[in-house]
Amino acid sequence: MAVEEGLRLDPPVLYVIRTVKRATILRDIEIHEGERVIAATSSANRDEAVYERPHEFRIDRVSPATHLSFGFGSHFCIGSAVARMEAQSALDVFLELVKPGTLKIKPGSRPYYQDTASLLGYARIDVELAPSSRAEMTAPSTDA
Ligand code: HEM
Repeated sequence: MAVEEGLRLDPPVLYVIRTVKRATILRDIEIHEGERVIAATSSANRDEAVYERPHEFRIDRVSPATHLSFGFGSHFCIGSAVARMEAQSALDVFLELVKPGTLKIKPGSRPYYQDTASLLGYARIDVELAPSSRAEMTAPSTDA
């Protein structure tokens, strides 16, 4: 649930690009054959007609997997299962190392994003770790 809600709210891929095959009118805007359009999947992920309080991170959503973060249709992401598995593993390890409630965003700070237009990724997030959690933190074993 947490992985899906994270993908919905902060999708690494912000939009997909398509070439129009047939002229059409969408919300009073004429779109001609051959034109390239951007479908903002990240915006659709926050559609208030679909999601209650769309800008909030809520792992208790009923249908978290309805997001478009892996695209849609014939070009749906072929690596989605691997990506989901990797994200879940990373989250599991993180939660083993950092006890819930002991990590918080540093007051007064803001996250920094990577300087890209189509991809979303954090370049830096300043956080504070409670001392009790820090003492118990150990690096994962690298023994085979
Ligand atoms: C969180 C991680 C990932 C996200 C958010 C993501 C997102 C996407 C999106 C939105 C598309 C659709 C592009 C379009 O419609 O134009 C796509 C396509 C694709 N993705 Fe991913 N992807 C991720 C991870 C991966 C991984 C791990 C692989 C490979 C192991 C992969 C391989 C592909 C390929 C090959 C396509 C093209 C599929 C096609 O055109 O038929 N992706 N991905």
